[in-house]
Amino acid sequence: MGQVVTIDGPAGAGKSTVARKLAERLGWHFLDTGAMYRAVTLAAIRAGIDLGDEPSRARLVGEVCVELTPDSVRLDGVDVSAAIRSLEVTRATGTLADSPSVRASLREWQRTFARDRNVVTEGRDQGTVVFPDAFRKFFLTASDEERALRRLDDYRAQGHTEAGDLDSVLREIQDRDARDTARVIAPMRPAADAIVIDSTGLGVEDVVEVMMEAIRRADAKVPTEART
Ligand code: C5P
Repeated sequence: MGQVVTIDGPAGAGKSTVARKLAERLGWHFLDTGAMYRAVTLAAIRAGIDLGDEPSRARLVGEVCVELTPDSVRLDGVDVSAAIRSLEVTRATGTLADSPSVRASLREWQRTFARDRNVVTEGRDQGTVVFPDAFRKFFLTASDEERALRRLDDYRAQGHTEAGDLDSVLREIQDRDARDTARVIAPMRPAADAIVIDSTGLGVEDVVEVMMEAIRRADAKVPTEART
């Protein structure tokens, strides 16, 4: 197993942007586990299965192939990077993420990804369930209002005019966080040994710097290496 740094936290906290930058700084790989849940959700929607039906979800996750490259998400060999960011997929992902069989498969895919490389991974359960022995763990938060503003900016940049106004985005992320926190399997919460960072009012580089400092403190000899 390579070295792993985990970043968990609620929607819109900036996990992906920060994780990507941190991975660049370390020369490690970046793993966006939310993209994996989104890709399986897209596959389920396209297959027309009942998203809440566990046997159907188990069958589906056994049949699909999700791959993450440094700049794309592939579902059965096809680039679905844009399609997985649609509001339909965003809203349906929580249902698939509640599935024991989907979570078990994705946990194994994520561990396989990190088997022979160093990884900065982000999601909801990375420090608690998937990589309990991670080298360094972070839990990234920000105020609800700031997270909603960031998410609204993302939606506008992606051309999702149907996302609504700030209030509806705020309600959407609060609902999603409530569901992710209340989940029976692998609920979102900081690992006991995670460093909690509140990024309200902080820029991406500020957060990355706080993390780099904590990583340096954890082990002065942390390996930095070229991507393989
Ligand atoms: O991070 P992102 O917004 O792309 O995640 C989409 C959804 O996927 C989350 O709201 C959550 O329900 C699910 N998820 C999860 N565990 C992870 C990553 C994402 O349950 N490790």
